[in-house]
Amino acid sequence: MTLTAWVNGRFLPLDEATIHIEDRGFQFADGVYEVIACFGGNFLELDAHIDRLQRSCEGIGIRLLKSRAELIELIHETYRRNPFDHAMIYVQATRGVAPRSHLITQEIEPTLVITSRELPFPSSEKLCAGASAITLPDIRWKRCDIKSIALLASVIGKQEAARQNVDEAFWLDDEGHLLEGCATNCFAVINGEIVTHPLDHQVLGGITRYLALKVAREHGITVVERPWKLNESGLTECMMSSTTNAVVAVSHIDAITIGDGTAGPVSMKLRQWMLDEFEAMRQ
Ligand code: PDD
Repeated sequence: MTLTAWVNGRFLPLDEATIHIEDRGFQFADGVYEVIACFGGNFLELDAHIDRLQRSCEGIGIRLLKSRAELIELIHETYRRNPFDHAMIYVQATRGVAPRSHLITQEIEPTLVITSRELPFPSSEKLCAGASAITLPDIRWKRCDIKSIALLASVIGKQEAARQNVDEAFWLDDEGHLLEGCATNCFAVINGEIVTHPLDHQVLGGITRYLALKVAREHGITVVERPWKLNESGLTECMMSSTTNAVVAVSHIDAITIGDGTAGPVSMKLRQWMLDEFEAMRQ
């Protein structure tokens, strides 16, 4: 079945949905994006994703010409025009098309692209065994709070993770603290508390991170937002979160086995609580 994309004012078959070669997204990665989960027609935290898209646009000075209501309608319509019940909607805004020059010399119309793909689910084996990861020195820019399409470092990190046969690469700051993954936020359970790096320029404010911490607090688990390391005493579990994963335990990082080497109890409970929360949102 042909997929349908929204591109610059029109719905088109995916093969015909093309962008000008002088789009600044193509030449400078001058743009931002969102990935939004939709379960059977119910979007997860759509407002929070639109808020973050608008913040990212403001962060790099792109003025979106679509209102919030128009964006929401286009996202719904893109979902409806594609065959996936559980979908991930990709929204990308770039500064637009102009003759190549670093300097932005003219008001140009932003490019807006929306596509829908099938939402992948982690396998039940992975959920029970836990995922695996490596750590890498953070080579990204210093505004990771902006959801920029400049993802070269993350591509390199993911490639290295795949080469080493693991699922994710977590970025380390200069002192060895775990910041986040190439496409996930990460957490530890230390002495029964959930610990994760605070929101600053080194991490993306993940919508799933926000939900996971909210749900954990609601269930009486203390959440501490501070830098953390893998070698801390009392560390019994690690996990990662993203739109495409919800929360998944991470049982092996580099040569270290976390806990007993399978998905730990807090990670399992948190995942279940989140799925219950998603279910409640659908009703
Ligand atoms: N990535 N940190 C980074 C660097 C990310 O790229 C992502 C998401 C997250 C988690 O954010 P959220 O919970 O809002 O999905 C954290 C998306 C899924 C992607 O690039 O495909």
